[in-house]
Amino acid sequence: MLSVLILGISTIVTGAAIEQRDSVPPGYVAAPYYPAPHGGWTPDWTESYRKASLLVSNMTLAEKTNLTTGTGLFMGRCVGNTGSALRVGIPQLCLQDGPLGLRNTDHNTAFPPGITVGATWDKDLMYRRGVAIGEEFRGKGINVHLGPCVGPLGRRPRGGRNWEGFGADPVLQAFGGAATIEGVQSVGVIATIKHFIANEQEQYRMWNIVKPGISSNVDDRTLHELYLWPFAEGIRSGVGSVMIAYNAVNGSACSQNSYLMNSILKDELGFQGFVMSDWLAQISGVPSTLAGLDMSMPGDRNDIPVVFGNSYWMYEFTRSVLNGSVPVDRLNDATTRILAAYFKMGQDQNYPRPNFDTNTQDAEGPLYPGALISPRGIVNEFVDVQANHAEVAREVARDAITLLKNLDSVLPLARNSTLKVFGTDAEKNPDGINSCADQGCNKGTLGMGWGSGSARYPYMDSPIDGFKARGASYQFFNTDSFPSNSNPSANDTAVVFVSADSGENYITVENNPGDRTSSNLNLWHNGDKLIKDIAAKYANVVVVIHTVGPILMEEWHDLPSVKAVVVAHLPGQEAGASLMQVLYGDVSPSGHLPYTLPKSEDDYPESVSLVGYQLGQPQDTFTEGLYVDYRHFHKANVTPRYAFGHGLSYTSFSFSDAAITPVTPLTATPPTRPAKGATPTYSTAVPEASEAYWPANFDRILRYLYSYLEKNDADAAAKIGNSTTKYPYPAGYSNVQKAGPPAGGAQGGNPALFDTAFDISVTVSNTGSRAGKAVAQLYVQFPSASPFDTPILQLRDFSKSAELVPGAKQTLTLRVTRKDLSVWDVVSQNWVIPVVDGDYGIWLGESSDKLNLRCGTASGTCAADQTSPV
Ligand code: NOJ
Repeated sequence: MLSVLILGISTIVTGAAIEQRDSVPPGYVAAPYYPAPHGGWTPDWTESYRKASLLVSNMTLAEKTNLTTGTGLFMGRCVGNTGSALRVGIPQLCLQDGPLGLRNTDHNTAFPPGITVGATWDKDLMYRRGVAIGEEFRGKGINVHLGPCVGPLGRRPRGGRNWEGFGADPVLQAFGGAATIEGVQSVGVIATIKHFIANEQEQYRMWNIVKPGISSNVDDRTLHELYLWPFAEGIRSGVGSVMIAYNAVNGSACSQNSYLMNSILKDELGFQGFVMSDWLAQISGVPSTLAGLDMSMPGDRNDIPVVFGNSYWMYEFTRSVLNGSVPVDRLNDATTRILAAYFKMGQDQNYPRPNFDTNTQDAEGPLYPGALISPRGIVNEFVDVQANHAEVAREVARDAITLLKNLDSVLPLARNSTLKVFGTDAEKNPDGINSCADQGCNKGTLGMGWGSGSARYPYMDSPIDGFKARGASYQFFNTDSFPSNSNPSANDTAVVFVSADSGENYITVENNPGDRTSSNLNLWHNGDKLIKDIAAKYANVVVVIHTVGPILMEEWHDLPSVKAVVVAHLPGQEAGASLMQVLYGDVSPSGHLPYTLPKSEDDYPESVSLVGYQLGQPQDTFTEGLYVDYRHFHKANVTPRYAFGHGLSYTSFSFSDAAITPVTPLTATPPTRPAKGATPTYSTAVPEASEAYWPANFDRILRYLYSYLEKNDADAAAKIGNSTTKYPYPAGYSNVQKAGPPAGGAQGGNPALFDTAFDISVTVSNTGSRAGKAVAQLYVQFPSASPFDTPILQLRDFSKSAELVPGAKQTLTLRVTRKDLSVWDVVSQNWVIPVVDGDYGIWLGESSDKLNLRCGTASGTCAADQTSPV
C-alpha cells in the first residue's frame, strides 16, 4: 500500500488517490513508467541546462521547492505565481491565461481565438499572431503564457472548449499550435501547450471530494495518431511548458499518470521543459511528483477548501525530500527543467516584472487578494501593450471568414445595396462589452467563448460599427425575433446575425455548463426561427454566423431566399471591419472550415455524445478510435452539410502541374534514434534539514504557501530520510534512468520521423475575375495493402497562396514526412511504414471533398481529374 502513513510520517495522504482507481473497460491501460526522465539531453537545450544546473547546485532545498509550486489561489498578481529564489536571482514567475491573448487585464488586444486561426489555414499568419501575443505577455511582465490550446481536439462537437484550439484535426492543430509557440517564444515568453491530454469535455473534468474526474479511455494507437500529434509538434518546436489536463486517461489522473508524463512526454517526445498541473488538477503529493509533474498550480490542494491554504507540495514537497519519499534528484530535475526554460527564453536578461493584476481593474488593491489580511499597493500600472496588434488580429478575423454558400453572386454586396440588418449578434453587448466576467454570457456580438480562455475587450468593432464606417445604407433591427416593422422590399438584402457559444465549465450560460448541453448544436436565441422568418419575407438573405464550432443549419439552409451563408467564426475584438472587407468584396473570403458541418447530430458516432452523470468515475471510452470528424464521415459514408476544409471564394482557382519528388528513402521502421546526451548531475544525498527551516523573523502572510518547515518537522523528516527505512515506491519504480524508447531521440520523437519523404508542388491559378487567396490541402491515402485499418484520407499539410489577381499563378510547395506515412504500431511501440514500396495516394485540392489531383508515391507521378476516394 503506497502511503506515507505506513512510515508514520506526518505528511499528506498520497496513496489513496492512485490505489483506489475505478476500473476502466478492459484493454485501456495506464502502465507505470519510472523514474521520471531527467531533462537536458537534447543538444538544443544544453546551454540552458548548463546555466540552470549551475544555479540549482547552489540552491537550498526550500528554494528549489519554492519554484515548483504556486503561492496559492489569488495570492499574487497573475493567475499563477510561483515562489521565488531571490538569493540566487530568480524572481517569482508569473503565469497568465490565455490562448487568445491576455486575460483579465487592460490595454490588451482581444485576438481571435484558435478556431478562427485554424480557419485561416495560413501558417505565416498563425506565427505572426503568436509573435503579437508574445509581445503583449512580455509587455505585461508575464513569464509563462498559458497557451496554445490543442486539446480538446474537437472530437466532441458539443465540447465547451473546442474553440480555444485550431480545429478538429491533429495536423491543423499541430501547425496552429507549433506556429503559435514559435511566435510567442520568439520574444522570450515561455509558451504552454495544453491540456495534456484527451480533455474532450468540460463536465466532470475535475476531481472533487465526492467524485473522481472523468476517465478518457483511449487506445494507444488513437492516442498517438490523433491526440498526441499536436503535442509532439509543439514539443518539436521547443515549447517550454506542458499543462496537464484535469481528467484521467485510462483510469489514472493525468496529473499523476506516469505513463503520460514520464514515458510519453519526457522520454518518447523528449520534452525538455516543465510539466505543470492545470489549476487544482493535482490530486496527490508524492505520486504526482514521481509520475513526472514539475510544477503545481496554483499551489493549493484540491480536496481541502482553498481558503485554508494547504498544498500537496511547497512545504510538503520539502518534507517529502527530507523524509526520502521523493528522491532529491526528482526535485533537482523539476527545478532544473523550470529554470532551463527560463534561461532558454533569455528571461535572465532584463525581463520585465508584472505590471498588472488579474484580480482587479483598480490601480490599487491587496497584493494578495486571497489572504485574510493583505498589504496593499499599486497593482495595475495600465501598461499599453497593444502596439499595432489590431492589424494582425483583423487579418486573422478576415482571412478566417468562411463562405459556405453564395447563390446568384449575392455577395459581395454592392456599395449601394439597401440592407436590413437583423440580430443582436450584430451589435455590442448593450450592458457593456466586458460586463460578464470571463465573457460568461452571450449578449451582443460573439467574439469569443467564455472561461479562462477569454480576454477583456479593449473595444469591440461590431458589425454595425463596420456598416457605419462604410457609410452603408442599412436599417438595423436589434432583436432576435422578426420585427413587424421592417417593411421588406424587393431591393433589400437582409443580413442576419446569429451565434452559438460555449465555454469552460465553471460558468454556466443559458443552461450550458461549458459544453453545449442545452443548446445542442443549434443556434442560440432562436436563431433558426429568425432566419426562417426573414427568409419568408425577403428574397435575398445573407446569414452571418459567429460560432464556437459545428452547428446545424438544415432548418433554413436550403430555403430559396437564403442566398449566402458566411461563418465568421469568433473574430475577437475585430468583428466589424474584417467582415466588411469580405462582405463588400475588398478581399475575397479565403477561410476554410476547421471542422465538418453535419446535417444532423446523428451523423456523428454515438461515442462522441457528451458523457452525463455516472455513479463513481465517469467513463468516456473513445470507441470511435481514429474516426473523429471527417475521418468518421468518410468511413460511415455520410455526406455532411459542408465538408471539413470547405470554403468558397469570390473567384475560382485551378490546381495544376502537380509534381512529387522523393527526398528521403523510406524504410519500414525509422533509423535508430540518437542516444540521449548527458544530463546534469547533482548530489543524491538527503539535504540538510536546516535548508528547510523558516528564516528568522519571517513575516508570514496567512494562507500564503511557503516551502519552509518548522525546525521540529524538518528534523523529524530528515531523521526518517537518513534512516534505513525505505519508502515503498510504486510498482515498477526504479531509480535508474532509462535509455529511452526507439520512438524517441529528440524533441517531438525520433528526428527521422520528421524527415521529408516527398516534396509535392502544385501550381494554383486564379481562373476567376477577382483577386483571392487559395488554400491547397494535402491528404494522404494509405495503400490498400496496408494491414492497418486507417482513415480513408488524413490531412497532412496545407499551404495558402498569396493574394492572386485574376490570371496570376503561384507554385505552392507541400511535403509529407516519414511520420505522415506511418502508423503507430502498438506491438513494436514504434512508427512503422506499413507498405514501404506501396502506392500512397497524395491527394490535393481545396477541401476534403474536392480533391482531384493525385500523386502516387510508387509511380512518382501526379495526375489531374482523378476521382477522390470519398
Ligand atoms: C483552468 C483551465 O483549464 C486552464 O486552461 C487555465 O489556464 C487555468 N484554469 C488557469 O486559469
